[in-house]
Amino acid sequence: MFESYQIHSRDQYEKDYKNSLEDPEKFWGNIAEHFVWQKKWDQVLDWEFKTPSVKWFDGGLLNVSENCIDRFVKIDPSRIALIWEANDPSELPREISYLELQNEVCKYANMLQSRGVKKSNRVIIYMGMVPELVFAVLACARLGAIHSVIFAGFSAISIKDRIVDCEATHIITCDGTFRGAKCIDLKSIIDEAIFDLSFIKNVFVLQRTRQEVKMVEGRDVWIHELIDQQSDWFEPVAMSSEDPLFILYTSGSTGKPKGVVHSTAGYMIWANYTFINVFQYKTGQIHFCTADIGWITGHSYIIYGPLSAGAATLMFEGIPTWPNEERLWQIIDKHQVNILYTAPTAIRSLMVYGEDPPSHYSLESLKVLGTVGEPINEEAWHWYDQNIGKSRIPIVDTWWQTETGGIMISNLAGITESKPTYATLPLPGVSAVLKDQEGKNVMEAHQQSALFINKPWPGIIRTTYQDHARCKLNYFSQIENMYCTGDGAFVDEENNFRIIGRIDDVLNVSGHRLGTAELENAINEHPSVIESAVVGYPHDLKGQGIYAFIICQDTTTDHDLMTEEIRELVQAIIGPIAKPDKIQMVTGLPKTRSGKIMRRILRKIAEGEKSNFGDLTSLIDANVIDQILANAK
Ligand code: PRX
Repeated sequence: MFESYQIHSRDQYEKDYKNSLEDPEKFWGNIAEHFVWQKKWDQVLDWEFKTPSVKWFDGGLLNVSENCIDRFVKIDPSRIALIWEANDPSELPREISYLELQNEVCKYANMLQSRGVKKSNRVIIYMGMVPELVFAVLACARLGAIHSVIFAGFSAISIKDRIVDCEATHIITCDGTFRGAKCIDLKSIIDEAIFDLSFIKNVFVLQRTRQEVKMVEGRDVWIHELIDQQSDWFEPVAMSSEDPLFILYTSGSTGKPKGVVHSTAGYMIWANYTFINVFQYKTGQIHFCTADIGWITGHSYIIYGPLSAGAATLMFEGIPTWPNEERLWQIIDKHQVNILYTAPTAIRSLMVYGEDPPSHYSLESLKVLGTVGEPINEEAWHWYDQNIGKSRIPIVDTWWQTETGGIMISNLAGITESKPTYATLPLPGVSAVLKDQEGKNVMEAHQQSALFINKPWPGIIRTTYQDHARCKLNYFSQIENMYCTGDGAFVDEENNFRIIGRIDDVLNVSGHRLGTAELENAINEHPSVIESAVVGYPHDLKGQGIYAFIICQDTTTDHDLMTEEIRELVQAIIGPIAKPDKIQMVTGLPKTRSGKIMRRILRKIAEGEKSNFGDLTSLIDANVIDQILANAK
């Protein structure tokens, strides 16, 4: 099915890369032929980055759930689609065939429709990592509703912002979710988020933890009381290629997270193409991506990429370190996993326990390892290679973003070479360039610069929900006719890319994106805070830690108490992932005459630098630096 567009050699990679950029219409048109269309497209590609406007396969009609489920049911209804491993290893895993997945997705679609959900309505999904989350996502795709999955670690305030922004009318949630030793009360967080939102018509609640929850009459419904009455067939709705498939909120350099909108046809084809090529997936293999479906990695490489290729995708409810640090290795042997895709933070957190835990497992079923979400350091790369891959299988270091929909720069497992800490080569369709501030190309080896993409690929962000101007401003206005990634990178002599990380005001903490402005807004909500400035600093486990400098009204404030209050406040406003690691109370911040905080100085202080702050002539008061240094953490 996908074999004809899978890359089988380095030569083919080079040919396909060239063809994809020289004649994208022919290249992607040929690939699109391998999917199920209710009506073929009129035009493969129509684009300009000025507005921006990008249309792939315009005029075509298709349904993503039909492509991810029905076509494999026809081949073999008993083929396994989803393997679920519970948080607690003593709970039985679940295996769901493509036919069972079809039945469940159809029942969910019927349930949603019976409560008024229609094509293009927005549905919020706030659930733990259970198979029903996949049913809910694909049910939305089947009936044409736009899903917006919110990571189960976000707070009530963050959820409310997202619901209001996308004007969702329906929510699917669970009573609670298990994560390691914790049980998180998802339903009560939803209740808090929506208590004054009268436009919410229904909250569908899945019973998972069986804890007691409050049900609001007329609004809240138990899924188990509705689902059995539903028919197990739902005709897939014909969607236009450019209809939105989902909205996923992500942090940017401004205060408010933005709703990244992905399309139907282009996104699906990109998720599929990148999945089969980067991981070199072979029919019958089991793919295990440890991400949460609340992030883009879970969307593209737990759900849409693997299922559109007919793969068995493994989803894990728990965390890698509970009940002990052998959990991932145990899952790999238990289910004979072939592809493992995880984050450098997870690798670093398991590395701490040494070589012993993985040595208790064979791990022989593994064929490919992958990393995603943040730069991987050499030490973690080699530990992963030696202890998990037993130095016998390729590692793919995959660079991409919520906005790109799928992997953009990566080696192809066993086909193109890996190089520790390098994402290496752009995929076919990806025209990656490095630019200086004036917009000039900087392609000399080892010259760090800003990474841009100058042509559209099928999975490119289409808009930011309800705010196209913001999409243009954030991504398409830095250099004319270029998509701006916000990342810094350089190439080596062979044009392998190494990604350095964000060069805008976005932090990457344990592979999760957080905007400094978003963090500062939360901190400034504290009544005693006058001003704050947040920067990132290198953190052994998380990649980047959060360092907050704050000016308080009262200089005699108890520092420990204040630190505690601010950490709690940020947790309440954003979620636990956003809690600052270090908080320093200061009497002033380094500012220029125009009132701008010189963040590069704060960044250096946070990194442990004591001198060499560069040119300070534009500072109003350079003494402030000594005062900050005196109490630096
Ligand atoms: O800075 C890059 C980093 O993660 C950012 C995107 O974050 P998000 O939209 O949350 O998506 C994460 C999963 C794709 C990028 O701008 N990043 C992602 N992958 C890598 C990476 N940095 C270095 N190497 C990577 N492989």
